[in-house]
Amino acid sequence: AASLPETYTLRSLRKSDYARGFLDCLRVLTTVGDVTEAQWDERYTWMNTQGKGGYYLLVVDDGTRIVGTGALIVERKFIHNLGIVGHIEDIAVAKDQQGKKLGLKIIQALDFIAENIGCYKSILDCSEANEGFYVKCGFKRAGLEMAHYY
Ligand code: ACO
Repeated sequence: AASLPETYTLRSLRKSDYARGFLDCLRVLTTVGDVTEAQWDERYTWMNTQGKGGYYLLVVDDGTRIVGTGALIVERKFIHNLGIVGHIEDIAVAKDQQGKKLGLKIIQALDFIAENIGCYKSILDCSEANEGFYVKCGFKRAGLEMAHYY
């Protein structure tokens, strides 16, 4: 597999990534809103205490800022012998950094974690426009998403 560009690192999210543009990176995906540093700290701490073991958030840092991110959310089930399912969520690569295989690297890393913690599958929802990207990452179309917004 091709390596990341020099100076780029793929690592776990840190609390200090608030100041490295993590939320701006997510803005290519959807609305983020005005999240204060105190709110960020609270959610980050929750994920690493009550939510411990359930959230794997990765980032690509180019040496100056966060240019890519992705998450694996772990769901513990009763079915399939207490099976564990990985949910791949919130994949985003900064506009000016797309097409450099950063998205692929993020998915590969999340897949590696999912397999290693014992997930029997990882699933995700995406638009038709992104189907080709996930096919290149080894995913295949399965089912149909439905949503109920509140
Ligand atoms: N359609 C078809 N093929 C694609 C697409 C696409 N939309 N995007 C990338 N590819 C291909 C690339 O050409 C490349 O193919 P190659 O190996 O033949 O050269 C391969 O997929 C890997 O591409 P990357 O360079 O790793 O993709 P990139 O780093 O640009 O990341 C991503 C792709 C995450 C979709 C990025 O464009 C992005 O952030 N988009 C905006 C936010 C978004 O839509 N995120 C996904 C939401 S779905 C979810 O989060 C579960």
